[in-house]
Amino acid sequence: MSPAHLDPPALLDRLSREPRAALCHLPTPLEAMPRLTAALGGPALYVKRDDLTGLAFGGNKLRKLEYLLGAAVADGADCVVTCGVPQSNHVRQTAGASAKLGLECHVVTLKGRVAKDDAAYLTSGNALVTRLLGAVAHEVAWSGDRNGAIEQIAADLRAAGRRPYIVPYGGSNGRGALGAVHAACELVGQIGEMGLEVTALAHCSGSAGTQAGLGVGLAAVAPEIRLIGIDIDAEPERVLGDVRRIAAETAELLGLADTLGDIEFDVRAGFAGPAYGVVAPETVEAIELAARCEGLVTDPVYSGRGMAGLIGLVRGGEFEAGEAVVFLHTGGTPGLFAYPDVF
Ligand SMILES: Cc1ncc(COP(=O)(O)O)c(C=O)c1O
Repeated sequence: MSPAHLDPPALLDRLSREPRAALCHLPTPLEAMPRLTAALGGPALYVKRDDLTGLAFGGNKLRKLEYLLGAAVADGADCVVTCGVPQSNHVRQTAGASAKLGLECHVVTLKGRVAKDDAAYLTSGNALVTRLLGAVAHEVAWSGDRNGAIEQIAADLRAAGRRPYIVPYGGSNGRGALGAVHAACELVGQIGEMGLEVTALAHCSGSAGTQAGLGVGLAAVAPEIRLIGIDIDAEPERVLGDVRRIAAETAELLGLADTLGDIEFDVRAGFAGPAYGVVAPETVEAIELAARCEGLVTDPVYSGRGMAGLIGLVRGGEFEAGEAVVFLHTGGTPGLFAYPDVF
């Protein structure tokens, strides 16, 4: 195990040099999950409640948006352009954050990534809240290119005299991941206050910014904590490549690229079901177990898959009984209402 390069206040000091918009209720709680721990008979399990970041039903994307939209405001932007599937949590949170900051939010809605076209999927849950928040929707067919269409919408807005700020798919780039660096600092502080010896942090990983930022943060201040990203896209190689690329950008922004060098990342495959947005039986079992043991609500596309990964790793003997493992609940609960048939 390598020693910490910085202490949390020193890392927070570097973060404080970047523009930031206050959007989240922080710190989010860190709580024990004693009944889930007992049900699984494994390590002591804890949950870091980033589903409770607050604005517009909360979630992990708000942490990224503090830094992304902080930069948008500093740049004098008057509108935001982002993209996502109809049930995107990222789009919902971007629409909420934009509303709060008085920025018009343009959303490229990518139709067809998930082969679901029922009314619940297309209009309830995140889709309903995004409409309510006043986002301007531009529908585009999914081509596999996540960010292509936002450039065109931004160009059209510029041609009309506007000043758009582009927020990439999932809010995942080096700047967005600063929010997850901040989360890592916050968590390490809470672990210290609670006198815990946490050995691992597990969470679901998709557009990769969360894992990249957590990895940079932990490598800097708590390298003894293992970070395990659970692939929820059924594309573990792509996720790992994106995590590495974004982490390098984030470390560069913080002036830590040379200090941290190449960080090793762990992206776990096998818990994503057949494809993004297709609900596997293990995910339903995990969602029900967490709900019935802890009253903890997770969703079928993101946090429930992460929970299925955590449960699968515990059952598979990944951790010793004496370890303490934190699950980062990244939010996504409005997505539950898009899958009424599953429950
Ligand atoms: C609820 C939820 N959890 C986790 C993630 C994954 O985070 P990241 O995209 O930073 O990998 C997302 C991304 O959309 C999400 O909406």
